[in-house]
Amino acid sequence: QQEQTFVMVKPDGVLRGLIGAIVSRFEQKGFKLAAIEILTIDRALAERHYGELRAKPFFGELVAYLTSGPVCAMIWQGLHAVENARALIGKTNPVEAAPGTIRGDFAMDIAGNIVHGSDSAASAEREIGLFFGRTADDHRAGWL
Ligand code: CMP
Repeated sequence: QQEQTFVMVKPDGVLRGLIGAIVSRFEQKGFKLAAIEILTIDRALAERHYGELRAKPFFGELVAYLTSGPVCAMIWQGLHAVENARALIGKTNPVEAAPGTIRGDFAMDIAGNIVHGSDSAASAEREIGLFFGRTADDHRAGWL
């Protein structure tokens, strides 16, 4: 059914000039772009976004990476949007992501996998709320 998912081009993707290529793939697949914004997020938002990974050994590195520069936050809409977006993005580890997927074509390493997509409808709702909800403006790190 029609649903929305949250997708974010991470700082390395933005730095490498890949926003256009990534947006293009979602459009070509048939998604409709419902919202898009460039912003640099603060530590508190990065920690909330990745809250379920708090106990992981790479959590500090992950938060530092996500707050290191501007990200491109997007809401994409369409049929089975969450699953379709995950298929388009590819496996979390670019080493395992198939060629033809975004990570398979543009990324080399799991710590810099250039794009995030919600892993379930519940995560999508939560992440859309974090990045586009009423309190999102309180979590801008300063520039952009
Ligand atoms: P993402 O899909 O945004 O969701 C969680 C992120 O954690 C994941 O992409 C990776 O960027 C990151 N991640 C997962 N495993 C590792 C790891 N072993 N080392 C560093 N980062 C990781």
